[in-house]
Amino acid sequence: MRVLVTGHKGYIGTVMVPMLLADGHDVVGMDSELFGEDCLLGETEPQIPEFKMDVREVDSKDLEGFDAVIHLANLSNDPLGSLNPSLTYEINYHGSVKLAAAAKRAGVGLFIHSSSCSMYGAAGDAILDESAEFNPVTPYAKSKVLTEQAVSAMAGDGFSPVFLRNATAYGVSPKLRGDLVLNNLTGWAFTTGKVLILSDGTPWRPIIHIEDISRAFMAVLNAPREVVHNEAFNVAVPGENYQVRDLAAMVEEIVPGSKVEYAADGGPDPRCYRVDTSKIEKLLPDFKPQWTARKGVEELYKAYKENNLTEEDLNGTRFQRIRHIEHKQETGEVDSTLRWTSSTDEGELAPESELISSGSNR
Ligand SMILES: NC(=O)c1ccc[n+]([C@@H]2O[C@H](COP(=O)([O-])OP(=O)(O)OC[C@H]3O[C@@H](n4cnc5c(N)ncnc54)[C@H](O)[C@@H]3O)[C@@H](O)[C@H]2O)c1
Repeated sequence: MRVLVTGHKGYIGTVMVPMLLADGHDVVGMDSELFGEDCLLGETEPQIPEFKMDVREVDSKDLEGFDAVIHLANLSNDPLGSLNPSLTYEINYHGSVKLAAAAKRAGVGLFIHSSSCSMYGAAGDAILDESAEFNPVTPYAKSKVLTEQAVSAMAGDGFSPVFLRNATAYGVSPKLRGDLVLNNLTGWAFTTGKVLILSDGTPWRPIIHIEDISRAFMAVLNAPREVVHNEAFNVAVPGENYQVRDLAAMVEEIVPGSKVEYAADGGPDPRCYRVDTSKIEKLLPDFKPQWTARKGVEELYKAYKENNLTEEDLNGTRFQRIRHIEHKQETGEVDSTLRWTSSTDEGELAPESELISSGSNR
């Protein structure tokens, strides 16, 4: 299939793109490149034909000729989403709906939205399937609910939206994120010897490796259209719902000399949910997750050692999405709406002919 991946230069995208290419798809990227080379962990990013473009500026002409859009480009976590809630709604909600509408007008048959289990929000100990009530507690999570509802209403003949509600991701990526729970706990352990828990440790979180998230997107691409049409799936792994304190204990066991500690100001965290995975197992049998949290900590620890990760890398502008964005705004490189201030950097659209002829993946 000819697939456009938005946000292909981010944490999940840089791992998903090579997997899509290996699966035989023809892949083009679209990203405003908020996280550049200064956010790389050692490796280089996959090279594919790409638009450097903000999804808010997309026109249906940009999407003609694609069979599917995989939409990853969003402000990607709660702290960043809470920095400026109206901007979060503008990018994550309005931007996503505009993109979906443009895809539908352009005749793109499949629109796979990277949604989130955080929509379930404050849900306590119950194990939730896709019909559970939404209790989003942050602008980020609310933006995901609003987008699902609006894009779902666009479903129809010839346009199949699919909503993949990912669990919290972990794993090594060229565009590592240090703000995700397992990456962060392992990073603290490696750089300081403290496995620092920032909450009271009790919240439940389903977690999943980014390669397994990518496998779910690929399973949707390869599934019969009637099976996935306008469906939402929890993207998680059976047995991989953990309390944060259990993850911390696992990190303590694996990273030599490390010890669990609780941050002095860490209180209860209202974001607490466990999810059921029966629907994805039944309807998308091609989705075969291969990772566990324990294997993930081992992978992260090895990569942190190889790349000499420092505490500043982990908690500063390199790997914390919110710090990076704040820094870019302080230096004036991006404005308060997260648009590049230099006209040479903004929204340039390579001609379609150039994209096709330069495709290294064809
Ligand atoms: N990582 C997780 O735990 C997780 C869990 C559930 C859902 N998700 C969702 O998956 C998607 C990808 O997450 P990620 O972890 O790779 O995030 P990320 O922050 O690493 O990557 C997001 C990418 O989108 C780009 N982007 C942001 N705003 C844009 C805009 N307006 N126009 C064009 N490009 C823009 C950024 O430059 C970046 O490359 C997001 O939608 C996120 O909400 C992630």
